[in-house]
Amino acid sequence: GTIGKDGYRHFMEKELHEHPLVIGQTLQRMVDPASRRVVLPDLPFDLATVPRAVITACGSAFYAGMVGRYWLESIAQLPVDIDVASEMRYRNPPLTAGSLGLLISQSGETADTLAALRSLRQKAVHILSVLNVEHSTMARESDVVLGTVAGPEISVASTKAFTAQLTVLACLSIATARARGTLDALAEEELVAALLDLPSRAADVFAQGDAIRRMAAIVAEARDVLYLGRGSMFPVAMEGALKLKEISYIHAEAYAAGEMKHGPISLIDRTVPIVASAPYTPLFDKTLSNLQEAKARGGRLLVFTDTKGAERVSAIAEDMVVLPHVHEFAAPILQTIPVQMLAYEVAVLKGTDVDQPRNLAKSVTVE
Ligand code: AGP
Repeated sequence: GTIGKDGYRHFMEKELHEHPLVIGQTLQRMVDPASRRVVLPDLPFDLATVPRAVITACGSAFYAGMVGRYWLESIAQLPVDIDVASEMRYRNPPLTAGSLGLLISQSGETADTLAALRSLRQKAVHILSVLNVEHSTMARESDVVLGTVAGPEISVASTKAFTAQLTVLACLSIATARARGTLDALAEEELVAALLDLPSRAADVFAQGDAIRRMAAIVAEARDVLYLGRGSMFPVAMEGALKLKEISYIHAEAYAAGEMKHGPISLIDRTVPIVASAPYTPLFDKTLSNLQEAKARGGRLLVFTDTKGAERVSAIAEDMVVLPHVHEFAAPILQTIPVQMLAYEVAVLKGTDVDQPRNLAKSVTVE
């Protein structure tokens, strides 16, 4: 049958509310319920010996890849190179045969990503694609497909497909780490438990609607917005900034919080709200001191944090959204949801065509 909005105002709103379900479905596909271990399909290569991974994608899928790099490097100690597909395609990077090409795409039809896939294939690289549309052109041209079980995504702005991509990449990172001997059984159990906890924690995010709408009222008045995060929260900030630009037409820029002092801090004043993703992780203190520097220059801080960070954030932030505290590994998945919700609420206030923003197509089939 045809897909409806089920009473939601926009497909984007409906799809935002599908985050808990979709994360759960994707985990069901990748985690064996009895052993609680990540199970991948048979691979025509050995994760234990791939010399490196090259990740490439466009837009939101690229930001998912950036979180994937963070996990593959830190947990699996796998060297990773990453670039947007439209650049990767022309860089001609030196690659050892047998490396892993990791492509990420909701549609599986994005022309830049498909072209990058084909150029990687010419270098005898194994092609593993993380795809939502499992009968797509990219699926046919890949050695292995890991499906994001997100269901059809109608809104041009990607939401649930992004968290599903992160969920798959998290599982792939665990499996890679196990194969490479960088993760013992106990640590693996802890990471899997953190992922399995996510669907119910994600459902908790919707209770924060009022706080998110308060932030949206401030952001909707701005001409420019700065998004900040560190570590795996930096790509979350990038995702937030892209989503805001895409559907509200407000200029936004994401910066690694620690890099601000090397330039962009000079543009901070009362008119440029700062949206920061700062859950309580090992980078919390560093992020907070970066935010303090911004506040000292008149910056208005709107902060996404968690129950463990809330007290210290409340001392400096103009407003905050408090999510449940989760394991550092799962935090970028959970923290993505309110950042996308903020963009949605701003677009609603602005009265834009949320599901069909101007100049954009759901899948970009031209290079
Ligand atoms: C996300 O909100 C965008 N609409 C866009 O960046 C998108 O993620 C990008 O075009 C990649 O599309 P794909 O996942 O279908 O390859």
